[in-house]
Amino acid sequence: MNKTRQVDLGTPASSAGETVQIEIDGLPATVKAGTSILRAARESGVDIPKLCATDSLKPFGSCRMCLVEIEGRKGYPASCTTPIEEGMKIRTQTDALSKLRRNVMELYISDHPLDCLTCSANGDCELQDMAGAVGLRDVRYGFDGENHLDAPVDTSNPYFQFDASKCIVCSRCVRACDEAQGTFALTIEGRGFNSKVSAGISEDFLDSECVSCGACVQACPTATLMEKSIVDHGQPDHAIITTCAYCGVGCSFQAEMKGDQVIRMTPYKDGEANHGHSCVKGRFAWGYASHRDRMLKPMIRENTSDPWREVEWEEAFQYTAERFKAIQKEHGRKSIGGITSSRCTNEEVFVVQKLVRAAMGNNNVDTCARVCHSPTGYGLNTTLGTSAGTQPFDSVMDADVIMVIGANPTVGHPVFASQMKRRLREGAQLIVVDPREIGLVRSPHIEAAYHLNLLPGTNVPIINALAHVIVSEGLADEDYVRDRCELDSWESWKAMILKPENSPEEVAKVSGVDAEKIRAAARLFGGAGNGAIYYGLGVTEHSQGSTMVMGMANLAMATGNIGRSGVGVNPLRGQNNVQGACDMGSFPHELAGYRHISGEEVRTQFEQHWGVTIDPEPGFRIPNMFDAACAGTFKGMYIQGEDVAQSDPDTHHVEAALSAMECIVVQDLFLNETAKFAHVFLPGTSFLEKDGTFINAERRINRVRPVMEAQQGKDEWRITQDLAQALGYPMNYNNAAEIMDEIAELTPTFNNVSFKFLDEVGSVQWPCNDSAPMGTPIMHVDAFVRGKGLFVETDYVPTEERTNRKFPLLLTTGRILSQYNVGAQTRRTDNNIWYGEDVLEVHPSDAEMRGIGDSQLVSLTSRKGNITLRAKITTRVKPGVVYTTFHNPETGANVVTTEYSDWATECPEYKVTAVQIAPASHRSEWQDEFAARAQEQGRIVTPADEA
Ligand code: SF4
Ligand code: SF4
Ligand code: SF4
Ligand code: FES
Repeated sequence: MNKTRQVDLGTPASSAGETVQIEIDGLPATVKAGTSILRAARESGVDIPKLCATDSLKPFGSCRMCLVEIEGRKGYPASCTTPIEEGMKIRTQTDALSKLRRNVMELYISDHPLDCLTCSANGDCELQDMAGAVGLRDVRYGFDGENHLDAPVDTSNPYFQFDASKCIVCSRCVRACDEAQGTFALTIEGRGFNSKVSAGISEDFLDSECVSCGACVQACPTATLMEKSIVDHGQPDHAIITTCAYCGVGCSFQAEMKGDQVIRMTPYKDGEANHGHSCVKGRFAWGYASHRDRMLKPMIRENTSDPWREVEWEEAFQYTAERFKAIQKEHGRKSIGGITSSRCTNEEVFVVQKLVRAAMGNNNVDTCARVCHSPTGYGLNTTLGTSAGTQPFDSVMDADVIMVIGANPTVGHPVFASQMKRRLREGAQLIVVDPREIGLVRSPHIEAAYHLNLLPGTNVPIINALAHVIVSEGLADEDYVRDRCELDSWESWKAMILKPENSPEEVAKVSGVDAEKIRAAARLFGGAGNGAIYYGLGVTEHSQGSTMVMGMANLAMATGNIGRSGVGVNPLRGQNNVQGACDMGSFPHELAGYRHISGEEVRTQFEQHWGVTIDPEPGFRIPNMFDAACAGTFKGMYIQGEDVAQSDPDTHHVEAALSAMECIVVQDLFLNETAKFAHVFLPGTSFLEKDGTFINAERRINRVRPVMEAQQGKDEWRITQDLAQALGYPMNYNNAAEIMDEIAELTPTFNNVSFKFLDEVGSVQWPCNDSAPMGTPIMHVDAFVRGKGLFVETDYVPTEERTNRKFPLLLTTGRILSQYNVGAQTRRTDNNIWYGEDVLEVHPSDAEMRGIGDSQLVSLTSRKGNITLRAKITTRVKPGVVYTTFHNPETGANVVTTEYSDWATECPEYKVTAVQIAPASHRSEWQDEFAARAQEQGRIVTPADEA
């Protein structure tokens, strides 16, 4: 059998608490009540043959391979669909059973190609295993009758193929698509001998509803659904457990290897965030790690107009250190800084902020959370006392009403979306607050009870109106509030929320959402046993982002929805390690664990450990660094794995800031857009080469394990360490585990964390310390972290960005399933087949008014700039609203976004830009400049060239 196959106990585990005693083949066994006989036997070490059952899916009972005998009962029940009962005596192996199983197997085999030796599943085929297990020696029916052996192979999907000739119609794939993924893309067409799996009426996989999550491929017991990488390279020989490098769900994967080559990534069943499920990115889009664009040599250049020159590491460090030191000598200690990466491990991030604080001697360090979830940190910390989500993902299975605000989980957090959809199919109610009709509003077997399709920028009035109805109609949980919250704050908040301007009728005028719909949604949420809020960047990336986060926390406290399973305020965090990057002290005002830099006790602890004096003044945030660069006082930056030139708003301003600096160091896998303005390029490592930890949206610390050597010859934390040493600060870690040990020592919420502990327990949710040795899945259980919950008044201050006659439409931005953020990874994979370019969604009435047709090139103009892209005419957006993504650098979506930002955290207001659109015939000026710069970027001089 394949060495990397994960254990399959046949049917899902029972959740019952009590156990029963049974006897299997004469031996006693104690098993959880409700367990199937098949699973009970497997748990006891007895492998009953099976084909249609697998432990990730409900039992189906179609293949009849798992028959057993039960003392006192007639016939041969299927063990997968029969639950155990107290005192049951089961026989799994008798002559009669053997004969029956062989008969079944003969039928399967008579319609199977039997090309085992050349089959891609050879060695990893359950049909092959079962033929062996039942002792099949002969097929009485012959192979000449009617069969399916000439069925065509569907190779349309870039990552897996469907070879119908090998299908045994066990329907595991169909059930995986329904139960695990919730897409319902597959059906069994036809009846009896003519039944076959279909991905839609006369459609191949590529054109079907399939979202390439891979669940069906994982579930298929034969070579029918098979990864193309296995077809090309054969079966893996070993596996290493690691964590996905894309989104904040933090799925665990088994990297299946042949030598040091990754052959396949399969979702890990024991992964506590994903329970064996995956999405197209983590499952298939890992090829970027070995893409030809990957840079493997350090490079330097005097001026950005010069070609890059490949150098050895030592020269790159000395060159950088000299330039940084010279800048500080001339312009002062605070004239340089750094950005940590949410794509990197906690250990890699920690050393970068340490380098800034200890080696550069200032607090000019920030991270990409600045442009995504910094309002989450501010808002949740202010109201509840901690800068993170309150729940584990599994909590959604206890929710009765789920409110999704400004998030699109099916594309942004697909594995969690599948879990949420499972709960919705079980009967939980859904409220969606989003300008666009996201996929969750209407999908197979799911329909939102209410979709509040508000105008971009009006989240705060909507949350206030929901609270207004709940308070005015007596739906608030006053007992909870009295017990758990600061009563003064409750009273003043209540007075604010009951003001007439927060009534649904008034809010309808600004938000464009019908007052009755707001009332009905509020009643639904207010009346819920368990009401859970999930939100994303559609909340935070506004000039009132922090206000809105506090508005949601207010609503959750007012309805008693914090502190148990099924409730909570839950940010769906974007990047794989954005939570960790924030936890590690990446903000200019906080040391690790969100402790303010001005706190003397905390600073002293770090100072003693690091042997330096730490500046008590907060440093620059990213936008401050850019402003200071434009003003000529900020001159150098060390940028770890973040492409600010593409991802940050108001591209013209960012480019001006980057151009004004004297030394920009980019550490990345690829020569990204920011590297066009850089003087030093330090090649980074992919997640497949990293040793460390990521922290997901549920505060779960997951191990990231290297499956191959660092391709450029140096771990990323070592790059930072060597640079620190070149700058004159001694940093001397021997391995990444030592960095985590230091984090744990200096950070109370991490006190019990170490690589050894994580390797033992799998993963843990912080806080993890002596008070919570096994971590803290649910926050604020008996009391809020800050003591009493604080209600904060959330008066609505509209953004200064307004529509007018010149810019009459509102642009909002988001993501697509197959691409990821700036696309650095996904654009270097076959995911491009689904989404090769950013498009602009336009409502038919807005398009018609302007003479714009579907797929036509349009210009998109704001006060800040102008780009062109193709239009997609759709009713997903309402009239007056247009929408695009920002995955392709050549589109330049951020050329048009503005300088406005959240009042508390300066998180940019990506979600609201006043724009005009018009038919276009050519690229914008910025896009022409972009193309010219892209050509320049490719000029690299190697030592061989110089010789
Ligand atoms: S494709 Fe695979 S999983 Fe689906 S019915 Fe056929 S054999 Fe079973
Ligand atoms: S890949 Fe996922 S979405 Fe596509 S058919 Fe298979 S299970 Fe369904
Ligand atoms: S849901 Fe997120 S973490 Fe999971 S596989 Fe997809 S991208 Fe990776
Ligand atoms: S495994 Fe039980 S009927 Fe198929």
